[in-house]
Amino acid sequence: MGSLRRGMEREIEQARQLFEKEFGGQPVAAAKAPGRAELLGNHTDYNQGLVMALAVDKFIVMAGRPRSDGRVVLVSPIFERRALFEADRIAKDPEAPWADYTKGLLLQLQERGARFGGFEAVIHSTIPLGAGLSSSAALLVASALLLRKLYPYRIPELDRVESLDKGDAPPMDDAERLRLARICQKAENEFVGVNCGLLDHISSLFGRQDQVILIDCLDMKIDWTPMDSETAVVLAHSGVRHELVGGEYNDRRARCERAAKALGVPSLRHVTLEELEQARDRLEEFDYRCALHVVGEIERVARGADLLRRGDRQAFGELLCQSHESSRHNFRNSCPELDCLVELAKEHPACLGARLTGGGFGGATINLARAEEAEDFRRSLASGYAARMGKRLESWICRVVEGAA
Ligand code: GLA
Repeated sequence: MGSLRRGMEREIEQARQLFEKEFGGQPVAAAKAPGRAELLGNHTDYNQGLVMALAVDKFIVMAGRPRSDGRVVLVSPIFERRALFEADRIAKDPEAPWADYTKGLLLQLQERGARFGGFEAVIHSTIPLGAGLSSSAALLVASALLLRKLYPYRIPELDRVESLDKGDAPPMDDAERLRLARICQKAENEFVGVNCGLLDHISSLFGRQDQVILIDCLDMKIDWTPMDSETAVVLAHSGVRHELVGGEYNDRRARCERAAKALGVPSLRHVTLEELEQARDRLEEFDYRCALHVVGEIERVARGADLLRRGDRQAFGELLCQSHESSRHNFRNSCPELDCLVELAKEHPACLGARLTGGGFGGATINLARAEEAEDFRRSLASGYAARMGKRLESWICRVVEGAA
């Protein structure tokens, strides 16, 4: 393995420099995974529903090289402590819980038959923490792809990972990428303890430049449709840290599953709005509202896909606003700061639509704005947020990018 070329893309170069500073010498490989923004389809993924997402130009890059002593050493400048463990004795360390993502992933691969030795790596991130842009999925995906470059493996079946003795791992086709997404999800569900769906991992792995990713979580069919080039995607981070571990996220998921069970269906995907209305008496009120949100979202994504293909960005944007209203009122995964950002967005003439993105309970809003006025839109969100909430707003006009490599 040669060392990583200098003068590469900016984030990889930054990771290379970080590696040099932390470990001395050069990394031999790097993997770069984008964060994602959920465009439409809130909490639909684990309900076998439909969802639309974008891979955005905020990344986690891991750069590393193998070690001969069987140890894994991970460094992230965001966290004070290094993570240090034996590759064949992976366990949680309360002093460095951020390393649980990589550890969980390594364990999942090992359980399926992967063999690998030690390595040292840096984690360079431009994804703001707690913004709901899924830095966790990007970290899992970057870990998996870095390992694949250091200790090549294939995933011929979901339950079988085959280590390759020599050379580079062959490119992954979509079916293998999907298996990898599932393995990342398992790591998050089982080791980290978040019952998340597949949306985040798929988005990071299947992004395409300037394309919206459409995921049907019933048969796991993935499709793409172009993003209107005259529409800007603006992400606005409320500054309220959204935490998925435990708590509200798992509670909402449990409510959806309880509602499906009471309705006698495998998931909320199999229910129409009329059927839900008819069965309302059989559900606890808040479970009903959660189900209403999810079933409504699935319907909005179906309609939205059609509108996007027809280029009706006005009507598409309207769906985003409806989605937020349903989050606020039914699913109750919004918060005053997110509501304020959506209100401010709607007051600006360039706004096509705005809603919270991702898990909710904090994090960011996603806004669609007429591209020529996007900068003004962004500035006016920031000044309005400062005036109404007394808080500083971090926001970006983001590019829609290729998936992880
Ligand atoms: C988080 C989860 C995803 C998805 C969204 C809500 O991002 O990780 O699986 O459920 O929330 O749509």
